[in-house]
Amino acid sequence: MMIPVLESDDLEVVAFTLDAEPEVIHALGDCLNEAEWQRAAELRLERDRRRFIATRGQLRHVLASRIGIPPSKIDLEYGRLGKPFLSPRTPGRALHFSVSRSEDVAVIALSATREVGVDIEALRPLPEADDIAALCFSAPEQELYRNLVPEERLLAFFRSWTRLEAVSKALGCGLGSEINPDERDFTITAIAPKPGYVGTVVVRN
Ligand SMILES: CC(C)(COP(=O)(O)OP(=O)(O)OC[C@H]1O[C@@H](n2cnc3c(N)ncnc32)[C@H](O)[C@@H]1OP(=O)(O)O)[C@@H](O)C(=O)NCCC(=O)NCCS
Repeated sequence: MMIPVLESDDLEVVAFTLDAEPEVIHALGDCLNEAEWQRAAELRLERDRRRFIATRGQLRHVLASRIGIPPSKIDLEYGRLGKPFLSPRTPGRALHFSVSRSEDVAVIALSATREVGVDIEALRPLPEADDIAALCFSAPEQELYRNLVPEERLLAFFRSWTRLEAVSKALGCGLGSEINPDERDFTITAIAPKPGYVGTVVVRN
């Protein structure tokens, strides 16, 4: 179920498919804490509950295997805008991570020393893509985007969009926040976790 996506010196990205058998989801859910079960319970659709449980269970398993403790002992805290990180109480080495989920795929990026951000999107028609590009892309990027033939635009849109999201996730801020990150501070890599998906992983230089 785990798909290796990227492995370099200090950056690892793995992907998971989330629409697994009920027994698999149940087993993954075993290591979630009460707050995580509460979060799952608040999701209206069964599919969304399943995907959240699978992603969080996989995150706990991956972190636990790297640190060498049981998945249920992983203790997460959250930044002001929701970025999860390992609590300083967690035994073992510090580990940076970032998680992204789109439809039935999740990716987890890990780095022992550098702040990391990852974002993926399932390629799908997005009627509002041109409007979002006009709002969020830089002027040179908008020009490149506008000059593409329509068939090339969607892929280009998702590549740029996941890059913006990955950088803001590395910083722990939302896209709408006032911080204007300098992308030259990051090493940026395009990833393809599965056919039909595009994404970007970034690490702080
Ligand atoms: C927080 C945010 C970065 C998540 O991105 P997303 O594409 O919706 O969802 P993803 O699956 O890629 O990422 C979700 C994961 O990111 C992590 N996360 C949540 N908040 C985060 C933050 N502030 N920084 C970094 N990571 C964050 C969590 O691990 C979360 O997983 P979980 O839901 O299983 O706990 C995104 O919702 C965002 O940018 N919000 C701000 C909205 C905004 O300002 N919009 C204006 C658009 S111009």
